[in-house]
Amino acid sequence: MIFGRVKSLDAILATAEKKSLHRTLGAFQLMLFGIGCVIGTGIFVLTAAGAQKAGPGLMLAFAIAGLICIVAALCYAEIASMIPVAGSAYTYTYATMGELLAWTVGWALVLEYAVAASAVSVGWSGYLQGTILNEFFGFQLPAWLSAGPLALGGAPGGLINLPALIIALLVTWLLMIGTTESARVNAVLVMIKVSALTAFIILTLPQTEMEKFNPFLPAGMFGGFGSGVGAVGAAATIFFAYVGFDAVSTAAEETKNPQRNVPIGLIGSLLFCTVFYILVAAGAVGTIGGQPIMGPNGIPFPTGSEELARQCAMPQYADMLVCSNEALAHVLRQIGFSGVGNMLGIAAFVALPSVILILLFGQTRIGFVMSRDGLLPESWSKVHPKWKTPYVITAITGVAVAIAAAFLPVGKLADIANAGTLYAFMMVAISVMILRKTAPDVKRSFKTPMLWLIGPATIVGCIFLFLNLPFEAMIVLPLWAAAGMVLYFLYGYRTSHVGKGLVEVHEDDLEPHSPIN
Ligand code: ALA
Repeated sequence: MIFGRVKSLDAILATAEKKSLHRTLGAFQLMLFGIGCVIGTGIFVLTAAGAQKAGPGLMLAFAIAGLICIVAALCYAEIASMIPVAGSAYTYTYATMGELLAWTVGWALVLEYAVAASAVSVGWSGYLQGTILNEFFGFQLPAWLSAGPLALGGAPGGLINLPALIIALLVTWLLMIGTTESARVNAVLVMIKVSALTAFIILTLPQTEMEKFNPFLPAGMFGGFGSGVGAVGAAATIFFAYVGFDAVSTAAEETKNPQRNVPIGLIGSLLFCTVFYILVAAGAVGTIGGQPIMGPNGIPFPTGSEELARQCAMPQYADMLVCSNEALAHVLRQIGFSGVGNMLGIAAFVALPSVILILLFGQTRIGFVMSRDGLLPESWSKVHPKWKTPYVITAITGVAVAIAAAFLPVGKLADIANAGTLYAFMMVAISVMILRKTAPDVKRSFKTPMLWLIGPATIVGCIFLFLNLPFEAMIVLPLWAAAGMVLYFLYGYRTSHVGKGLVEVHEDDLEPHSPIN
């Protein structure tokens, strides 16, 4: 009976106890960590895709997505403080709902982390090309090296996004040789990102014009399930701008007074980002306008579609917000602050690789744990003798991430990443509720307040956003899950350690959970 294959919570917790991490983090450090993981391609690049879906209603989209992330974060915080081991949502599900569902979560997390890493790589490529190469060196990559093919939503003449491919491989190599990011580097990058966004807000808000916000919801509130447009459709895409906060919840064990500091750190960083994002959206839309390019039927052209790429190639549309690959720098240049726009471009160029690093790190940790559980080939979890990193799984993941980044547009990648993330968040909320019933006495250093309200709210919120993704992103999840099922029954089902009756928890599953230490 495969649903009976539950990883023993006692075994996990016994090993967890052997390791007592120093409680050194305060609420402020947690917030810094959270902001470092979260601010990235979502705000710097996807603002354009969000505007194409919602118009000025993009501001509302940021608020909706932020709210759903805050309730999900509260669930994450409890389970992370209770089961402080690598593998996050995958391990939580293994301990509550068994191997089969845990496999689906681990498999979906590939979409969260790996595909998100691809999306951020493509976002970085936009800033490299626009700000660094074009503005500073007056150099333009040949079209065929600058974006994926038009048929996949790239640009006319595009074949491969070479910069995105290279940055993904470079970060993979850094991870393979054991690079992590120091807390100090993270703090500096957070300062750079926040300064850039602050400058953006200060320069744009005074120049906003009320008529630019009208119509506020040109594509309506709901564009219809699966349409991916309207304010809620934009929320489902822009949700990407918040992905990565789950890394904060995994630092619960290293936090002083976690009952107080974990929620402050999580909610603080999310609220901070939500407010910033809304102000940035207001500044962008209120200055150069953020109305979508409508198709003949009065519905915005889908982002990442061939039709939109063709429209954007026309001179009369080329300067629109929705057509820019480096949305925020573009806005500043359009309103006469080219110098600051370029500084912002440099900030994105410098800071985005660290987001790729954090996401790829997350992916390799989960792949590593799954391989050690026998669900993926065990040779994948081999640790390099000198670098001390799981180099096989890192290389496999990195190459896959680079290939996806080379051919697909950022908006599509982000939507696919969101589909996987929403599934994982939902399973975490279910796991927290199950554990409250089945393991009420296990110590939790943080308890989700009003769990019976927050838990269901998270589940409903995740399903709601999922249903508002574009159909083609939505369908990836069941297809991906089906492929995962085939793999599981052909491979993992027979090789699983729990299936073979081996109860093992490795102490180094418990190493410091974040790539920032
Ligand atoms: N939230 C991260 C970003 O926007 C993944 O880049």
